[in-house]
Amino acid sequence: MGIKDMHRRSRLRKPTWIIILVSLVCVFLVVAYIYPPQDPTACYILSSSSCQTISRWRSRSPPEREPSEEETAARVVIENLLNTPSIETKNPKIAFMFLSPGSLAFERLWDKFFQGHEGKFSIHIHASKAKPVHYSRYFQNREIHSDKVDWGKISMIDAEKRLLANALKDPDNRHFVLLSDSCVPLRSFEFVYSYLMYTDLSFIDSFEDPGPHGSGRYSEHMLPEIEKKHFRKGAQWFTMKRQHAIIVMADSLYYKKFRDYCKPGMDGRNCYADEHYLPTFFHMFDPSGIANWSVTHVDWSERKWHPKSYGLKGLSLQLIKNLTSITESVHETSNAKRVTTITPCMWNGVNRPCYLFARKFLPETLDKMIDLFPSYTTI
Ligand SMILES: *[C@@H]1O[C@H](CO)[C@@H](O)[C@H](O)[C@H]1NC(C)=O
Ligand SMILES: *[C@@H]1O[C@H](CO)[C@@H](O)[C@H](O)[C@H]1NC(C)=O
Repeated sequence: MGIKDMHRRSRLRKPTWIIILVSLVCVFLVVAYIYPPQDPTACYILSSSSCQTISRWRSRSPPEREPSEEETAARVVIENLLNTPSIETKNPKIAFMFLSPGSLAFERLWDKFFQGHEGKFSIHIHASKAKPVHYSRYFQNREIHSDKVDWGKISMIDAEKRLLANALKDPDNRHFVLLSDSCVPLRSFEFVYSYLMYTDLSFIDSFEDPGPHGSGRYSEHMLPEIEKKHFRKGAQWFTMKRQHAIIVMADSLYYKKFRDYCKPGMDGRNCYADEHYLPTFFHMFDPSGIANWSVTHVDWSERKWHPKSYGLKGLSLQLIKNLTSITESVHETSNAKRVTTITPCMWNGVNRPCYLFARKFLPETLDKMIDLFPSYTTI
């Protein structure tokens, strides 16, 4: 072999190696694309940026759905409202919104609750059947224009929106509490005020229930805007910060989906908008802005169609103390497995008691509750 031959061979060798190397890298990338690295070690080897690139490729396939014009508009309004800092006012108040067929059985108890805190609250009553008779000056002339409410139907949400709209008219109202005629306070006004005001959360109950009383109520007519994986369930009784109340007022697209496709008898199933609209809506748009539990306690342990009613029998200071000492929220799925999820109630990073109010209390408990109120609110 002559000198010239050797030169030619080494010149040949370089490009061959480069081709092999490039091919190997290509094969590696194709494999990494098809089988994306699942564990952090793989990402470390790949370097984090290429790892992110690969996972971005993955999440783009299948390509994201093109939102409709109406959806784009709805999202941009919601996102802008979420990013707008709230305006502070001098005299922040809490709006207590009562949803009731008529008179409020616990008005005299609430009167005790509100006494001495004038100027820090406002009361709004939606009486859907009969004009209430009042026993407390705080409740006089506080009825708003109301309409008929059918249990489990969209008219329930309409009543909630009517209350929110009315309470929002006062710029001092910073937090909005929805209560029923069977709700009682479990805490003093000061406790409730600081619990709701000094956190950035709305206490909206929201959890995923794959069972028949949860996602089983979902209808594909809600597509494409609302996917089954986003469908949530939660108790109707919420508290909401002002920003969220405004967002509820601004929404019509998602509201209409629930109005039209989540109702009793939909596709042969019963869906109740008041148990799904807000839990789903806020899960989609501001999951970390909601606590995922309701500050209104209710006892479903009897597993009947309606929760346990608290009557005079068994009512004691100890019972109320028990309710106020609960620090975990419990959710149970409605499928055969009945999976129970227990979550500590976290308030500004600290585990605290979950409940400020409780239902369902029977009217017969009124006098006893008035007697007990000073005792259970001073502990
Ligand atoms: C509420 O639940 C969602 C998940 O469903 C979670 O992303 C969010 O962080 C939770 N909210 C809080 C305040 O923990
Ligand atoms: C209160 O809770 C304790 C401890 O869980 C229980 O033993 C007791 O029976 C409860 N009392 C009432 C009145 O519910």
